[in-house]
Amino acid sequence: MSESITISGTTKEERYASLLPQLKALAEDDAGQIAVLGNLMSAIKYGMSFYWAGLYEVKNDVLVLNAFQGTVACTKIAFGKGVCGYAWKNKKTVIVADVNTFDGHIACSSESKSEIVLPVLNEKGEVSMVLDVDSDQLATFDKVDEHWLGKVVEIIEKIINT
Ligand code: SME
Repeated sequence: MSESITISGTTKEERYASLLPQLKALAEDDAGQIAVLGNLMSAIKYGMSFYWAGLYEVKNDVLVLNAFQGTVACTKIAFGKGVCGYAWKNKKTVIVADVNTFDGHIACSSESKSEIVLPVLNEKGEVSMVLDVDSDQLATFDKVDEHWLGKVVEIIEKIINT
């Protein structure tokens, strides 16, 4: 397996399209969840030049920081709190163009300006994790990111549900 990620293309679609098969290859690794999820977050963050990419796992009634790449982050987020808690509570993807306009946004870093959070479901269809990707630019995320990161969520669901 390749130990580095190579991204080609100029548009966001092209970059995600070149990243996805490499994520699938990383997911085939049998080294265990921590190794694989950590590598996936690294490939997303560095491959797409985002500020932060990580997972929060539902543990009882809180989200707990799981595999991530980027600056030090909040370790626990309550149900319904912040963008992550909102995505968990409402079981839906949330795109925030300007984090300062999102009521209750949790600022782990002042560098983070926009973000997207997608729910990751278990076999019962319950939210078991959320995928949080942050940008240091305003309005980075749109339907294109939702589409491709949705494919990343499918890869993660396969890993955690088997
Ligand atoms: N901003 C998130 C918290 C997690 S950090 O961005 C890594 C939120 O409001 O839920």
